[in-house]
Amino acid sequence: AEIVIVPTPAEAGALVAEEILSLVRRTPDAVLGLATGSTPLPVYEALRARRDEVDLSRVRGFALDEYVGIDPAHPESYRNVIFREVVEPLGLDPERVHVPDGSLDGISHAGADYERRIAEAGGVDLQILGIGTDGHIGFNEPGSSFASRTRVKTLTEQTIADNARFFDSADEVPVHCITQGLGTILAARHLVLLAFGEGKAEAVAGAVEGPVSASLPGSAVQLHPHTTVVVDEAAASRLT
Ligand code: F6R
Repeated sequence: AEIVIVPTPAEAGALVAEEILSLVRRTPDAVLGLATGSTPLPVYEALRARRDEVDLSRVRGFALDEYVGIDPAHPESYRNVIFREVVEPLGLDPERVHVPDGSLDGISHAGADYERRIAEAGGVDLQILGIGTDGHIGFNEPGSSFASRTRVKTLTEQTIADNARFFDSADEVPVHCITQGLGTILAARHLVLLAFGEGKAEAVAGAVEGPVSASLPGSAVQLHPHTTVVVDEAAASRLT
């Protein structure tokens, strides 16, 4: 992987935004893989500041994951987060942006439906990734198969504790999620993994330099021929 160490998350955001804008200049209907959580927010902010430079109206997007069974009106459903943080501020076409369907009634076919949609779009051009403190990418928790496709998973205690900040309490964090698999993520043409802060240092070192192992799902990025890792000094602090 190409590793870029930047002084601040804002600079990481500017760098990745530039990469995305140049992709969209070349390919106006580019397919972006969108992550939620705190990490990609500087990218979305930098894009927002520059949204008038490039026509974003034909850009397509696929979110990595969604909570299963979350109230669709809940502000922290990933559908709502993606629309609030990405689609609306960037002026994307809401019809072109997809989030896995975490509703209980369709859950048996939601994974396969999502895979079909991604395939019909011709695959993801640039996939934005964060990494969990337990090494997950998407919500592929430790033990996930490198061949996995979009499916339902159970969040670890660690991820529930980490994501409790978005809810009133840890009890409110859904236990299940639907997530693109590691195989889905690896099929994207360019992976851009971002991480900031000391809390991510161990996961980043394991992902980039450790053995490729299902016990650290982020290490799957080592199997991809075009991965860019953008980290601040703190997140880079355990790299050799
Ligand atoms: C989000 C996702 C997760 C997060 C990871 C880090 O769509 O799939 O892998 O990227 O949990 O979360 P933050 O960025 O909030 O530290």
